[in-house]
Amino acid sequence: MKPLMSLALACFLIAPLAQAEERTADQLVASKTQADMTYRQLMELMGASLTMIQEGIVRENAELTKTAAQMILKHAAPNHNPWTIMADDDQAAFKQSLLSYDKVLDIEATNVVEAAVAGDWFGASSSAHALTNACIACHAMWKNKVDSTN
Ligand code: HEC
Repeated sequence: MKPLMSLALACFLIAPLAQAEERTADQLVASKTQADMTYRQLMELMGASLTMIQEGIVRENAELTKTAAQMILKHAAPNHNPWTIMADDDQAAFKQSLLSYDKVLDIEATNVVEAAVAGDWFGASSSAHALTNACIACHAMWKNKVDSTN
């Protein structure tokens, strides 16, 4: 195949994929109730939830642990598209992180709830640890990339 043709074909194949990705990140945000707070304020809430999860586990209080985990599971969307905090060039990749980490947070927060309800406090603790690692992993990639001029 001629190089130009294969390039054209590659663009033809990739463009719809990129579009699908974008739609999915938009859909994720649209699926959540919108709250009157910024992405950063939402993050402060996440921080409070994580602290409360930890407290629930140490106290062996399933209700406290569950209530705290649900703040993560049912978190609202901010009052702006989250990716607008990043520079234009970073937005597509940040969308991808939003999508993949939202899933990881859901899985680990659900594991925390299930273990807590079953009274398995070591299990709850190790899932809370995995949850924390997901927060840290996303922060390592993105927290210092916030573009305050945006
Ligand atoms: C999709 C990536 C991502 C995930 C996942 C994520 N965060 Fe964040 N977080 C950010 C970004 C980006 C900022 C910086 C926001 C800003 O400054 O406007 C931030 C900021 C924060 C802050 C404020 C940080 C500071 O410097 O004071 C807290 C607290 C926080 N996140 C907690 C959490 C917790 C807890 C979790 C996991 C339950 C979590 N975040 C998961 C991206 C993420």
